[in-house]
Amino acid sequence: MCMVIFAPLFAVFAFALCGGYSGQITVKVECLDKTQSNISIRFAYPFRLQQVHFNALLCERKRHETVFLEGDYSSSAQFFVTVSVLAFLYSLLATVVYIFYQNKYREKNRGPVVDCLVTVVFSGLWFVSSVAWAKTLSGLKKATDVGQMQLLLSACRDPENLCETLQEPAWTNLNMSVAFGFLNFSLWAGNIWFAYKETGLHNSGQRHLSRSLSEKRSSSFRQYSQSSFDQSGTGFGQRLYSQASFDLSSGNLSLPQTTLGQPMLYRQMGSPTSRGPLIFINESQ
Ligand SMILES: *[C@@H]1O[C@H](CO)[C@@H](O)[C@H](O)[C@H]1NC(C)=O
Repeated sequence: MCMVIFAPLFAVFAFALCGGYSGQITVKVECLDKTQSNISIRFAYPFRLQQVHFNALLCERKRHETVFLEGDYSSSAQFFVTVSVLAFLYSLLATVVYIFYQNKYREKNRGPVVDCLVTVVFSGLWFVSSVAWAKTLSGLKKATDVGQMQLLLSACRDPENLCETLQEPAWTNLNMSVAFGFLNFSLWAGNIWFAYKETGLHNSGQRHLSRSLSEKRSSSFRQYSQSSFDQSGTGFGQRLYSQASFDLSSGNLSLPQTTLGQPMLYRQMGSPTSRGPLIFINESQ
């Protein structure tokens, strides 16, 4: 239920906050001769800063220059938005299937298994894309900070002129998109357990575990009773005993039966040395 409401909602927050972002920087340039100019620079998702250009005042003879920002931050941003959109679509689809196609979903246990695998994959994608996007965002902040702007503008590199940043980009939305990325990761990762329980593999796994435990227990008992009879052929004893424990787990055999029923086993062994009383396990039930 948690997943039905929050997974699509948080995914929307993640891609809307990142994909809908646009930031603005305003720098005031004041030349030595008091000529002023405000330079506004806008940039937006997908943050291909090397394509963002603007006109800047050159203080000499009042000319202008075209300046480009530096850096391409698009790959991580687009990866993050892609993962968010896909997670959003998948969680919607899963909800629709779960509610309206319950029978198809349960058929051959296919739905729950697929859902569990997809949940694991999306948890991984959320983590990787959020980490990459967080790292890219810190690079983006550096590429658009005050110091970097003043380096890019020729007028500002000249210490005779005054440069002042009037407006810095607001990072709140992008910070929140990173936070939503990690929130989504914890939501999907936490849901792995519930998706796994839905598959029912959990229960069959436990059955298997308890069976092998009881086998182990019966086997140690067998070993003990075996060793009192058979002192030389331990290797063969092991084989006998593993067959026997199989029988034991099905509950038909409570103790080793000494019988002469199956001489084939003896021939297979191939070493007719004296080894005291041999034990043969009656396999026919
Ligand atoms: C630049 O912006 C500042 C603050 O908004 C304003 O006071 C100033 O007049 C502007 N200068 C120009 C040349 O537009």
